[in-house]
Amino acid sequence: MGLMKYVFEQAGKPRGKFGELFAMSMNLGHSKLTRWGLSYLTVNPEDFVLDVGCGGGKTVSRLAKIAREGKVWGVDYSDASVAAATRANRKSIDNGQVKILKASVSELPFPGEMFDLVTAVETCYFWPDFQENLKEIYRVLKPGGSFVIINEAYKNEKFEKRNSSIANTRKFLYYLPLEFKEYFENAGFSQIRIKTIESKNWITVIGRK
Ligand SMILES: C[S@@+](CC[C@H](N)C(=O)[O-])C[C@H]1O[C@@H](n2cnc3c(N)ncnc32)[C@H](O)[C@@H]1O
Repeated sequence: MGLMKYVFEQAGKPRGKFGELFAMSMNLGHSKLTRWGLSYLTVNPEDFVLDVGCGGGKTVSRLAKIAREGKVWGVDYSDASVAAATRANRKSIDNGQVKILKASVSELPFPGEMFDLVTAVETCYFWPDFQENLKEIYRVLKPGGSFVIINEAYKNEKFEKRNSSIANTRKFLYYLPLEFKEYFENAGFSQIRIKTIESKNWITVIGRK
């Protein structure tokens, strides 16, 4: 396997000891992007929050600091990411505020209408069925709850060479802002807001249940 293919495989599903380190390194690599995307949301101290595809767990700890009287769950289908996120959130797990679980976005292990906010940072490129997976997220949101996708790639001519070369290496699905809107609407979301930084190819998509 070529180096780039290996790196993109790790990004989509970190594996083994290297995968744990990789998930930890993404904590740093995605920090600015995540801060930017979350700036469009209000997180309340008592909120129940879920981070899907939580990787190394930095977004979970960031959210747990704000939802300090609520609870934060992180789920990821990779054992290596679950291990890294568990290590990164050890204290809050021990005091009962945070839970990290192994699960796929296709089948979230939660009852309906549980969360005020669901976040997904740099993960939906790899999901098995984007439309159905959005419906699953919609199911676990409380009425009035929000879902946010924060990505550093969306379909835009300027970045097509880079993005398509990743997509030629492994499954990597990215969309036009308008396509995101359609997927969100088809899953039932309303009040959809889309923010981009075109020069960086960053996108934040927010929908409300
Ligand atoms: C590029 S990493 C991003 C991790 C983290 N959100 C961050 O911003 O650093 C993508 C993560 O999504 C997870 N992932 C991909 N597909 C998934 C799925 N179907 N269900 C749950 N997690 C998934 C991967 O295992 C990986 O940890």
